[in-house]
Amino acid sequence: MAIEITDVSKEYFVKGKRIEALKKTTLSIREGEIFGLIGFSGAGKSTLLRLINLLEQPTTGNINVNGTDLGKLAERDLRAKRQKIGMIFQQFNLIETKTVYQNIEFVLKASSYDKKKVPSRIEELLSLVGLSDKMDSYPKNLSGGQKQRVGIARALANEPEVLLCDEATSALDPDTTKTILKLLKKINKEFGITIVLITHEMEVIKEVADRVGVMTAGEIVEMDDVYAVFSHPEHKVTKGFVQDIYDFTIPPHIELNSESEVITIKFLNEHAEANYVNQLYRHFDCDISILNGRIEYIQDMPLGFLMLHIKGRQEEIARLKQFIDDSKGIERAEIYGKID
Ligand SMILES: Nc1ncnc2c1ncn2[C@@H]1O[C@H](COP(=O)(O)OP(=O)(O)OP(=O)(O)O)[C@@H](O)[C@H]1O
Ligand SMILES: [Mg+2]
Repeated sequence: MAIEITDVSKEYFVKGKRIEALKKTTLSIREGEIFGLIGFSGAGKSTLLRLINLLEQPTTGNINVNGTDLGKLAERDLRAKRQKIGMIFQQFNLIETKTVYQNIEFVLKASSYDKKKVPSRIEELLSLVGLSDKMDSYPKNLSGGQKQRVGIARALANEPEVLLCDEATSALDPDTTKTILKLLKKINKEFGITIVLITHEMEVIKEVADRVGVMTAGEIVEMDDVYAVFSHPEHKVTKGFVQDIYDFTIPPHIELNSESEVITIKFLNEHAEANYVNQLYRHFDCDISILNGRIEYIQDMPLGFLMLHIKGRQEEIARLKQFIDDSKGIERAEIYGKID
């Protein structure tokens, strides 16, 4: 196991008031996976990341990174271990007065990297992040996406075992976000680096994560493979995040009664591409109109939702629902509401 978090909690005292930033949490992050952590502002995501990064001490519990209990390390060993944990941030945290090259050189020097190898290491890193032509530029002359590429190059300089990303794409537009997430995925695959990524956007989780934990009020309230969480969210916060992606609401002008119902069908895995709709039209004496529909590919597997307005006799609608319930790979879905 790459990162073992056992009974870890963190509390702060501000003006005598106790803030439970992280309630007792036990969590295993697997070696080589991309683990996403999603939650609203104040949920405790950054707190958890800072604990893994050894920037803070937990109030209770212990954290073990690749077999080393962090709480038991002497200051010097702690510093060495910290170099094996890279971190990138929403605001990039580059040194404005240094060029791209010097920004990376700075961390290599600080870690007493073999001097002779520094220039070739920097070149290698810049080529990896696609910035070889920008090595003499200053941060102020770079786009947000390019700045984050420098951030990534710098975080990888000391060949870390773990890369922590705190809202690394939150300051970027959607297209740039995608290219940065692609780069993170490539780094994960090519070097086997474990990535822990925190975000408040389900879109980010959908693009890159293998597993996801949903955090609210200092607690991880749901955790599973990304596909499982998207297809069967349990907690209301998770449902709200899934709703953000699929964006379903029943149009207000639709009149609902026993002979006019809205049914949302969920299509799982390969069934997302099957011809069930055809069968509904053919086998049931109902008027069926499509109100909304969407297929997303999550971990390369399709997950589809289709919202239908069904009009017909009550028994016929009941028969149609029964057909859905009896069919493999499709389910009737509830409409997840937005979170207030
Ligand atoms: N150094 C600190 N001193 C006091 N309280 C803190 C400190 N750091 C965090 N907190 C509190 O702990 C809680 C969790 O904060 P944290 O920064 O972990 O949230 P977050 O999920 O990262 O939020 P965001 O999405 O806004 O970054 C918040 O209530 C915050 O005010
Ligand atoms: Mg935060």
